[in-house]
Amino acid sequence: MMDRAMMDREGTFTGNRGLEKEEPLIFEQGSPGKTAVDLPEPPASKNRLGGLERRAPIGLPGLSEPEVVRHYLRLSQKNYGIDTGFYPLGSCTMKHNPRINEKVARLPGLGDLHPLQPVSTVQGALELIDTCAHWLKVLTGMPAVTMNPAAGAHGELVGLMTIRAALEDRGDARKRVLVPESAHGTNPATAAMCGYAVQSIPADDRGRVDLAILRERLDSDVAAVMVTNPNTCGLFENDVQEIAKATHEAGAFFYCDGANFNALVGRVRPGDLGIDCMHLNLHKTFSTPHGGGGPGSGPVVLSEALAPYAPVPYVVHGPDGATLVEKPDDSDGKPFGRIKGFHGQFGMFVRALSYMMSLGSDGLRDVSGDAVLSANYILARLQDTFRVPFPAPCMHEVLFSDRTLKGTGVTTLDMAKALLDEGFHPMTVYFPLVVNGAMLVEPTETESKESIDSFVDTMKHLAERAAAGDVKFFHDSPYLTPRRRLDETTAARNPILRWHPPSLDHAAE
Ligand SMILES: Cc1ncc(COP(=O)(O)O)c(C=O)c1O
Repeated sequence: MMDRAMMDREGTFTGNRGLEKEEPLIFEQGSPGKTAVDLPEPPASKNRLGGLERRAPIGLPGLSEPEVVRHYLRLSQKNYGIDTGFYPLGSCTMKHNPRINEKVARLPGLGDLHPLQPVSTVQGALELIDTCAHWLKVLTGMPAVTMNPAAGAHGELVGLMTIRAALEDRGDARKRVLVPESAHGTNPATAAMCGYAVQSIPADDRGRVDLAILRERLDSDVAAVMVTNPNTCGLFENDVQEIAKATHEAGAFFYCDGANFNALVGRVRPGDLGIDCMHLNLHKTFSTPHGGGGPGSGPVVLSEALAPYAPVPYVVHGPDGATLVEKPDDSDGKPFGRIKGFHGQFGMFVRALSYMMSLGSDGLRDVSGDAVLSANYILARLQDTFRVPFPAPCMHEVLFSDRTLKGTGVTTLDMAKALLDEGFHPMTVYFPLVVNGAMLVEPTETESKESIDSFVDTMKHLAERAAAGDVKFFHDSPYLTPRRRLDETTAARNPILRWHPPSLDHAAE
C-alpha cells in the first residue's frame, strides 16, 4: 500500500507540488490597466448613463488572457471531482456522466434554443421533453410526470404541494407527514417547509421502517407518508407494499423518495408497489451532472389521483403539434400553479434521454445490477474490518459503523481525512444518524473492480494503522490537500455528530 502522506514527509512524494501553493485571489494578481481584450473606446456621448456615470475606478483586476486561464485552471485542479477519481459519497451517486450525453446536449438545435422562442419553432424540443417524460413513466410504471422541478428536494416540495392541493380539493386539511428516521434528511425539511408537522417513525432492528409504529401513528390527520427506498441505510424497504396499503387505508398519500432509483431501475416499477408520488434525481440515476443547487433535475412521477394537481407548464399534443399549457386556467386539471421558470432544466432532459436511449431497457437494468453488485462486493470485502450494523445484503450503498475503531482514538472523521491523502473522496460520514460513526459508501455502477479494490485495500490499511495506535498520523491528516485539517474542534463539539435518535438505541454501538 502506497502511503502518500508518509512518502511526502520523507521527501519522496512526486506529486504536483505547485498545486499545494496558495492561489492568490484574482484581485491580488496582475496590474491595473492590463487587459485580456482590447475593446474600442465607446464614442463620446453626453450624459450616456443619465448621471449614473462611474465617478472613480472600480478596481477590476488587470490580467492578460494566459494569466486568467492559468488562475482558473489552477483553482479547478484544487478541486476533487468524479472526473478525477473514486467518489464513494453515500446517498449522492457520484458516477461517471457519459460524454455522449454532453455531445448531444451541445447540438446546435438543442443547445442554442431560447425558452422564449415561439412554440412553433421548438416542436422538436417539446417532443424531446415528452419523450423523456414517457421513458420515466414507463420505467416507474406511473401514469403521469411533472418535469418542472430543478432538483430532488425541489421535487419533494412539488410532490407535497401536489398532495396538499389534492387534499384541499376534497376539503381535507390534514396537518401531519410521517417520515421514517431512515429517510433522507431533505424529506422532513421539505414537509416542514410545506407547512406540515413532521412525525418521525423509528427504524426497526433490520434498519427498515417499524411497520407497527407506523400503523399506530397513521390517522385521519396524516397527509402523507414519505419513505426513501432504498433507504439511507442502503436497504430495500421490504414492507413497502404494506406501508402503501396502510397509508391508503388512512386516506393519506404515499410519497416515495426515488433519488436512489439507480438501485431499482429496470427491476422494480414503483407504480406496482402502490406509490402515489416519487421524485427522480436525473442528476443521480440518469447520469446528468450534479450541481450545487443546480443544474439538477427532479421530475416527479404521479398516480392518477395526483396527476390533475401537478404544476404547469406541461406539454400536450394537438392536431397542430405540441403545445404548452402555461397557465392553470388553460388546463383540464387543477394545477396548483407554477414552481419553476420556463419548462424545467431542458439541458438535463436532453442528457437523461440520451443516457436512457443509449443504454436501452436492458442496459438500464444492468445499471441497477452493477450498482448493487459493487456495493455488495465492498460489503463482502470489508465486513471483517468494519461492523455492518444491519444484516446483508445491501442495495446500491453499504453502511458501516465505527465500532471496530472504538478504543483506538481514531474516529470516522479521522478515517475520512486520511482517505483524502490516499487520493479518494471520502464516503459519507455520520449519516444516516441511525448508526454511530456511520460510514456510508456508494461505489456506483460506473466504477471498475480495480478502483473499488484499491479503495477497499486503503480502508483495510487505514483500519490496521488505527488498530496499531498511529493516532497522531490520523489526527494530523490530511497532509497533501490544498487546505490541511480545518477547525474540526467545532465539528467534534457539534452535538449532531454525537447524537443518535433515542429510539434507536438498539442500533447504537
Ligand atoms: C435519497 C435522497 N433524497 C433527496 C435528495 C435531494 O436531492 P437534491 O440534492 O437533488 O436536492 C438526495 C440527494 O442526493 C438523496 O440522496
